[in-house]
Amino acid sequence: MKPVGLIARWKDRLPVTAKTPIVTLGEGNTPLVRADRVAQAVGLPPGGVHLKLEGLNPTGSFKDRGMTLAVSKAKEQGATGVLCASTGNTSASAAAYAARAGLRCVVFLPAGKVAAGKLSQAVMHGAEIVEVTGNFDQALAMAMEAAKKKGFALVNSSNPFRIEGQKTGAFEIVEQLGRAPDNHFMPVGNAGNITAYWKGYKEIGRAPRMFGWQAAGAAPLVLGHPVKNPQTVATAIRIGNPVSWKTAIDARDESGGEIGKVTDAEILAAYRFLAHEEGVFCEPASAAPVAGLFKLAKAGRVPKGVAVCVLTGHGLKDPGTTERFRPKIRRVKAGGAVRL
Ligand code: F0G
Repeated sequence: MKPVGLIARWKDRLPVTAKTPIVTLGEGNTPLVRADRVAQAVGLPPGGVHLKLEGLNPTGSFKDRGMTLAVSKAKEQGATGVLCASTGNTSASAAAYAARAGLRCVVFLPAGKVAAGKLSQAVMHGAEIVEVTGNFDQALAMAMEAAKKKGFALVNSSNPFRIEGQKTGAFEIVEQLGRAPDNHFMPVGNAGNITAYWKGYKEIGRAPRMFGWQAAGAAPLVLGHPVKNPQTVATAIRIGNPVSWKTAIDARDESGGEIGKVTDAEILAAYRFLAHEEGVFCEPASAAPVAGLFKLAKAGRVPKGVAVCVLTGHGLKDPGTTERFRPKIRRVKAGGAVRL
């Protein structure tokens, strides 16, 4: 039988030993699917755009790649609990893996800014939830302070094991595509994931151009300074002062890529396009890289070659945003006539 979970699959490339108690939910090995309608819309040939469906991980986001390793290592090192700040997905993933490991999980969330699906995951996995009346950056400062308490491991992406786990996404893309993409597109929030992918590509001697996309109202890396009051419909990336700032800029510069910004309107248009035209339902933040590709197409600047867009989280995470697209729904009596 094939190994289950990404630690088993990639253990030679990860900091684990035979003694590491592996906490897994069978994460990784997510589909890479062609997006020929997107390719056509941006003037690339069929097969020119692929989507990496990270929303198909066990808790519905890419965070599981980092969390399997971070929680396994926390357990190995004798922690009794894990702790994080989160715009939602990290807390959902931490809560699930902690539940499986038998560890406490405390999550600091920006009050009122976490999508409904993500919050319900933290609730059901038994996380101890602290709502912070402030933004993610402020919640993270509190989590970092709280993590000084003995027995707790911080499982935000400042934890190097998170980055190690997430770099496996790059290994999979190269394996699935049969080669490295020429251009790699992804959303950027706290900037851990772009750091992780770039590390992963470099470790296997590949170097796609890295294109990171921030929301226009939360675009510190584009502006070159922190944003005090970040705002965007893509709540997952509503972050004003990314922890992995420097390594994200390094990924951009070493790869000859770009970090750009897309407006909420552009994000929502791409979000709808993916669902309507490709049958792929991702959360708003995950549509940012596709919005970026559309934006480059408008400017006549689509880079040549094969592009992979990482769709980081599932659409079901954020049912609230779908309300904006609700069509007129007909209601009829059971057995009544319905004209088509
Ligand atoms: N996409 C989604 C769906 C996310 O949840 C996040 C981050 C990102 C992209 C950005 O990744 O931070 O590594 O640059 N979510 C974090 C959280 C902040 O708390 O769930 P990044």
